Amino acid sequence: MSYENILAEKLEGGVGLVRLNRPKALNALNADLMRELVEALMLFDADPEVGCLVITGNEKAFAAGADIKEMETATTVEMLYNDRISLWDRIHDLKKPVIASVSGVALGGGCELAMACDMIIAADNARFGQPEINLGVIPGAGGTQRLTRAVGKALAMEMVLNNRWLTAEEAYRFGLVNRVYAPEVVFDETLRIAREIAARAPVAIRIAKESVNATYDMFLGDGIRFERRNFYFLFSTEDQKEGMNAFVNKRDPKWQGK
Ligand code: CAA
Repeated sequence: MSYENILAEKLEGGVGLVRLNRPKALNALNADLMRELVEALMLFDADPEVGCLVITGNEKAFAAGADIKEMETATTVEMLYNDRISLWDRIHDLKKPVIASVSGVALGGGCELAMACDMIIAADNARFGQPEINLGVIPGAGGTQRLTRAVGKALAMEMVLNNRWLTAEEAYRFGLVNRVYAPEVVFDETLRIAREIAARAPVAIRIAKESVNATYDMFLGDGIRFERRNFYFLFSTEDQKEGMNAFVNKRDPKWQGK
């Protein structure tokens, strides 16, 4: 499949890669890019040869946010009817794990896109921020919600109210990103992690992602019960029998995704 604003490629080891590709606009997320991104991700999500998805940008920018030029003159009614941000829900709804490999700026919608992924692997030149207040608006794709859950109220307030940016090291310290690497190796390290996840028991991976994400939508007691039912459910899979038998017999498991 060929696209104008992204590059999509199926890589060895079960990884579906999407590279945001509007370098002149620092990968600003316009409507066409978002449509292509969601389409490519959904195709990978449905591809049985793919076990993990990766979204990345270039060395200067993961993404500098929603496309301001596209929104500048929009009215409330146009924003409401176009409802472009509802596309972002498709990313959150993907069944397979999604990793953001972030170099350079991840601002506004760029930071929100990274946070919609399941893990963030950052280069040490990465910068995370929600500068929408400078435009007279607020984050519109989950920034006030996911950021606050990730870094806590005090820091989220400072980022959203006063445009504080986080370095990669700070983002790591505050729990927003999983790992930080030098820019030259961050993509390879992301692929290494993605391939490790893609090689794991597929049904359990899917249920694990769903169970962790349920934290966002449920009270603790409901979440604990949801997790327990999912745990019991996995005992109906061949992978559970294989995984436990392999452990007991001191051999490597062979996952079937069944
Ligand atoms: N939308 C549209 N174009 C953008 C853009 C954006 N979000 N960010 C950068 N660009 C464009 C610039 O207009 C410029 O294009 P031209 O060469 O045609 O003028 C090009 O990308 C390069 O940008 P700069 O010259 O500004 O590069 P810089 O290195 O001097 O600065 C930057 C980099 C600090 C990231 C700066 O570009 C910037 O502040 N960008 C805007 C960041 C922002 O406010 N993001 C939030 C957007 S709103 C949002 O995301 C809402 C939401 O929650 C969904």
